[in-house]
Amino acid sequence: MQTISSLNPNENWQALINGKKGKCLDLGCGYGADAYWFTEHGWQVDALDYNDEIKFQHPMLNFIKADFRRVNLITLGRYDLIIACFILHYFNNNYKLNLIKKLLFMLNKGGILYLKIFEENFTPQMEYLLKDAKIERYEQTDDHPPDGKHVHHIVKIICQT
Ligand SMILES: C[S@@+](CC[C@H](N)C(=O)[O-])C[C@H]1O[C@@H](n2cnc3c(N)ncnc32)[C@H](O)[C@@H]1O
Repeated sequence: MQTISSLNPNENWQALINGKKGKCLDLGCGYGADAYWFTEHGWQVDALDYNDEIKFQHPMLNFIKADFRRVNLITLGRYDLIIACFILHYFNNNYKLNLIKKLLFMLNKGGILYLKIFEENFTPQMEYLLKDAKIERYEQTDDHPPDGKHVHHIVKIICQT
């Protein structure tokens, strides 16, 4: 089972956002470590997940319990940063491509779409759609039942509009 739900933020966000503040959407926030980091750093954060496993609560964090396939995401508004980490592997290629296009549309000018996906789910069509993005590949070792110790090949995508 491919699953990474982290208790640590996915990124050294301070280095990426360089002191900026704004509005952030964390799609499939899981435990909420990224959403919490941004809330703590003065961002306005919407964090969406259909499970309520969120462990990092904050009075200023707007957690939305919803299935994003059933929400008209466009109605949430525009964002300066959209994070979607380890959620795209649940969906087929068409859904993934349409979702990425929608998320790009939802960015304010200069906004960032930040994605992480398992290498085996990163299709040529996705790579073409994201051809102007910064793409980085790395390996991450995990150790949890039922697989025991195993390595994930991860693609990190940073797309600035
Ligand atoms: C593998 S976890 C990753 C969590 C977090 N993004 C991280 O990087 O630690 C995937 C998360 O996406 C959520 N998710 C998957 N499909 C979803 C959907 N259709 N609507 C809302 N949440 C969804 C799951 O509940 C889970 O919390």
